[in-house]
Amino acid sequence: MRVIVDGATVDVPENATVLDAVRACGRYLPTLCYDARLSPRGSCRTCLVRAGSRIVAACTAPAAEGIAVQLDDPTAHQAARGAVELMVSELPARALEIPAERSEFVRACAHFGITASNFSGAEHDRGVDHSHPYVKLDRDLCIACGRCVAMCAEVQGTFALELTGRGFDTVVAPGDGGPWVSSPCVGCGGCVDSCPTGALSEPGLLDLRPITSTTTTTCGYCGVGCTLDVHVRDDTIAAITPAHGAPVNRGHACIKGRFAHTFIQAEDRLTAPLVRHNGQLVESTWDEALGLVAQRLAAIRDQHGPDAIAMISSARATNEENYLAQKFIRTVIGTNSIDNCSRLCHAPSAAGLTASFGLAGGTNPLDDLDHTDCILLAGANPTEAHPVVGARIKQRVLAGARLVVIDPRRTELAALADVHLQAAPGSNVAVFNGLAHLLVEEDHLDHAFLDHRTTGFDDLATLLADYPPEAVAAIADVRSADLVAAARLFGQAQHPAIVYGLGVTEHAHGTDGVRTLANLAILRGAVGTTGCCGILPLRGQNNVQGASDMGALPDVLPGYQHIAAPAIRARFERAWGRPVPERPGLRIPQMFDAALSGELRALYVIGEDIAQSDPNSGHVRAALDACEFVVCHDVFRSRTAEQASVVFPAASFLEKDGTFVNFDRRFQRVRPALAPPGHASDDFNVLQQVAQAMGADLGCPTPAAALAECASLTPVFAGLSHRRLEAEGPLHWPCPTSDRPGEAVLYLDRFATPDGKAALAARPYLPSGEQPDADFPFLLITGRRLVHYNTGSMTRRTANLELRPAETLEIHPSDAARLDITDGTDAIITSRWGQTVLTAHLTTDVAPGQVFAAFHFPTAPVNELTSPHTDTATDCPEYKVTAVHIQPVARGS
Ligand code: FES
Repeated sequence: MRVIVDGATVDVPENATVLDAVRACGRYLPTLCYDARLSPRGSCRTCLVRAGSRIVAACTAPAAEGIAVQLDDPTAHQAARGAVELMVSELPARALEIPAERSEFVRACAHFGITASNFSGAEHDRGVDHSHPYVKLDRDLCIACGRCVAMCAEVQGTFALELTGRGFDTVVAPGDGGPWVSSPCVGCGGCVDSCPTGALSEPGLLDLRPITSTTTTTCGYCGVGCTLDVHVRDDTIAAITPAHGAPVNRGHACIKGRFAHTFIQAEDRLTAPLVRHNGQLVESTWDEALGLVAQRLAAIRDQHGPDAIAMISSARATNEENYLAQKFIRTVIGTNSIDNCSRLCHAPSAAGLTASFGLAGGTNPLDDLDHTDCILLAGANPTEAHPVVGARIKQRVLAGARLVVIDPRRTELAALADVHLQAAPGSNVAVFNGLAHLLVEEDHLDHAFLDHRTTGFDDLATLLADYPPEAVAAIADVRSADLVAAARLFGQAQHPAIVYGLGVTEHAHGTDGVRTLANLAILRGAVGTTGCCGILPLRGQNNVQGASDMGALPDVLPGYQHIAAPAIRARFERAWGRPVPERPGLRIPQMFDAALSGELRALYVIGEDIAQSDPNSGHVRAALDACEFVVCHDVFRSRTAEQASVVFPAASFLEKDGTFVNFDRRFQRVRPALAPPGHASDDFNVLQQVAQAMGADLGCPTPAAALAECASLTPVFAGLSHRRLEAEGPLHWPCPTSDRPGEAVLYLDRFATPDGKAALAARPYLPSGEQPDADFPFLLITGRRLVHYNTGSMTRRTANLELRPAETLEIHPSDAARLDITDGTDAIITSRWGQTVLTAHLTTDVAPGQVFAAFHFPTAPVNELTSPHTDTATDCPEYKVTAVHIQPVARGS
């Protein structure tokens, strides 16, 4: 539709507002209660214009074909100016001292020519609330526009805020009336980001000195891949804000990506290499560290063979660094023994999704949740572990989508769900088969899809006969009526979506879990079809998808090209000018076993604290001890670094150049906002230098060159380049050509399996590796907390620590009472593999007989307890099920 703005004609969509037309013309209009992320309120009247014969609020008035909009209409202008003047009269003079680039209110005043001299300089002295480490409220600057309240409700879905008071005394406040820090606020920063006056601010922006640079990059916390703007002042990060209009996070973020950045200037940051002398790690020069690493790796390789060396690459590192790491281990060392932490989280997704559909990633973009009418969320707690996705799920539920949650804990989303199947840990396969049984029995099937695009239905149907609701209810300890209700919600939905996490994969039969979950999407024709929502695995670390995509795996080259295929090896050998070993290398758990048996002599670990994050920590420590030589790259002196022979000081994600791949297969640019401190360096440079010290040249002088080389050798990435990502923004893979966008939705024409069909899998339920017994009667589940991340090495060095200073053991009150454990007292937790002490937190969020803890704190080493059991197909550890014994710490001890 055409709209004429001050004489200029502009085309806008049918549902556009007058404000959309004004902005499409590139014209400025003050909009103090409007935020494009929110439903318009139309309450501040600062956007008044004439549209046709009427004075309207541009933010809410629908545009009409041919309508003439006049921004400088005297009546509208005067009324809008009056609205701003009224606000000005109620604000203190300091409201106009905020730099214009940080205050919409100051810009609005400038637009209307209102200056400080117009102020009455009202001083209400309503006070501040600085109780929260990140969200700072100055009540006197509040104009009660309501944007913060709407951000918290509509975008974050937390409903922590409200406007209180009357008339000019109306201000934002936490809904529970107490201090901000003890409110339900989850610290996403949405309210701060939307506030037009600075009433809500954050520590780095209370300082009014100018920002000197802003860099747009990709978050280095979880795998959602939020686009962030990093604002720097005096070579220090002043603030990080979500990039508005970013495709993944759409101007939203979480407390980790938004605020937890001060770790980069922590006093204990590594700024020089460490070399072990006389049993002690001491600061060294790069020359000494590089010389020692080159000499020892070469000596071990030459004396014991290349397979005596293994590398654990990093899901935190960039794609380009992972590409270089696997090139280094294959061509300079001569082994395929490289793995990454996807082994510990989503290796079952890669294996299961590849077997079911053909490719090792989720099938659809996150954006497709926008049109789902039923979400099946299995084994994931995204409001804590992937908060931006969690908020999007809440948005859909608030808009009317149905929600089925399968999780042993009563998570925030479980509490919101239409049906919560609180299935016993380890029972996923039975539950998914039970739901499939009901889809078949009640004929919630896409028959045409099953007939033409799938295989395996008859075998599956035969198996499913063993999974009637009563049988599954007995295995999973759920009500059969709830199974039926869940199956009907999923079965009757027009656009069902499946979202899942590590609660599906980190099991002894995790790959079977992925396959039987994928069955549900296939039975409904909810994958590979127009308008489908598909299946989305929530990846744990920022670049765990990319680390695997780049071939940091023991059996595949970049793009999952199999190492055993001679033609593929030959292609890489021609490009690299070195032989590529044929024999598959070791997986991470096999590396530890090989170290203890003496076959593995050296371990090279990039950016992972395996001594804290991997299961059965005692076994990992023994393996590190058994190695002759351990090299480590890290930002801090981690537990793994403590056992290393040489530690290289690493750059953080905020100091790196390259790309990450997020959980829905998007390549996104990572740009350095700062230089690394001291002599720290990025993993890309360290690998180049180690190779050079060993007399090898890895080529790829820059990250852009590394991605270009990878693309030239990998058909599914062939259309990707840094230049294209700069020009076009994030791109999904597969991206086989440079003239077409990547494939956001997979398999619309055919599946990538050898026969082009989706493969239904008949997989029986099998018990977990860990079973409770009289000695170990409880089941321990591990997971994440909102404010911390992985081993906590970054978040514990920020003010997030104030919000959760220590780990606790969640235990049901009935169990606690039986054990004589009270809230806040210490309990000894013992498994068949180790022991630790945790402070009890009594909650009904866990079921009786189950307990929960995270492993973010070295002082609460939960992985001392977890077992060596792994997924039978991929060796992914069974983190989610550990049989434990619990007893109170003896009083007085
Ligand atoms: Fe239009 Fe407030 S921005 S009324």
